[in-house]
Amino acid sequence: MAMKYLKVLKTLHQHLDPQVYFEVGVRAGRSLAHAPHRAVAVDPDLSPLRPVLRDRSGFQFYEQESDAFFRDHRREDVLGDARVDLAFIDGLHHSDQVARDFANVERWCRPGAMVVMHDCWPDRPEIAYRESCPGQWAGDCWRVIPFLRRHRPDLELTVLDSGPTGLLIVRGLNPDSPDVGQYSGELDAEAAAPREQQDREWAAYRAREIAVEPETFLASIGWDAPDENDGEAD
Ligand SMILES: C[S@@+](CC[C@H](N)C(=O)[O-])C[C@H]1O[C@@H](n2cnc3c(N)ncnc32)[C@H](O)[C@@H]1O
Repeated sequence: MAMKYLKVLKTLHQHLDPQVYFEVGVRAGRSLAHAPHRAVAVDPDLSPLRPVLRDRSGFQFYEQESDAFFRDHRREDVLGDARVDLAFIDGLHHSDQVARDFANVERWCRPGAMVVMHDCWPDRPEIAYRESCPGQWAGDCWRVIPFLRRHRPDLELTVLDSGPTGLLIVRGLNPDSPDVGQYSGELDAEAAAPREQQDREWAAYRAREIAVEPETFLASIGWDAPDENDGEAD
C-alpha cells in the first residue's frame, strides 16, 4: 500500500527540521501537528482546529482565505527576518487557487526551501475536477503540474504516488521569480472545457507524468527508512 501523505509530511518534518513551516488549509490540524518549531497557518474556517494546536507556542493562525492573507500581510510583518523552509498547500482544491498559493508562498520561501502540494495524483477522473464529490475529492490540483512545467521550467517537480491522492514536491524555488499566478486564468479556461476534453487532458497527464514511490523520493534526499512499526497510522 502506498505511503500516506501524512506520513510523507511527518518524515519531511523529521528529516528537514524546518524552522518555519507554512500551511494553506488546516482543518483540524492533522498535517500542521507535525511542525516542530514555528508555523504560520491560513484557513478561512479555523473552527475544526484542535485547541491544543491553537495554543502551541510558535504557531500563528490567520482565519482568512489565502488570497486575502497574502493581500493583507507582508512577510516582514509576519516573519521578521525569517523565511519559510517548508510549505504545504492544501486549501481550496481549484487549480487556479493552487497556482496563486504557490506563487505567493514561493515569495516567502528561502531559496533552498521545499513546497509540497496535496492531491496532485488522483487515480480516477471522478475525483479530479472542480465539482466536489463525497469521499476523496482531489479537485483539479493536478493541472498545476503541466502549468508549472509550461511557465516555470526552472522548477524541479516530483510527483509522489502517496495515498490517497498523491503529492507534488517543488524544489529549486526562486523567491524573486515573476508571479506565475498572473497566468492562473489559463487554468480556469481548462476547467471550463467540455467534460470529454477534460477527461482526455487528465488521461494524457496520467500517461505523461511519472509518479515515484514516496520511499524512493525520501531515500533520494537522504532519509533512512525507520522500522516498519514506527507507530504512525497515517
Ligand atoms: C483538505 S482540508 C485541509 C486538511 C489538512 N491540511 C490536513 O491534512 O489535515 C482543506 C482546508 O482548506 C480550507 N480552505 C478552503 N478554501 C480556502 C482558501 N481559499 N484559503 C485557505 N484555505 C482554504 C478549508 O477550510 C479546509 O479546512
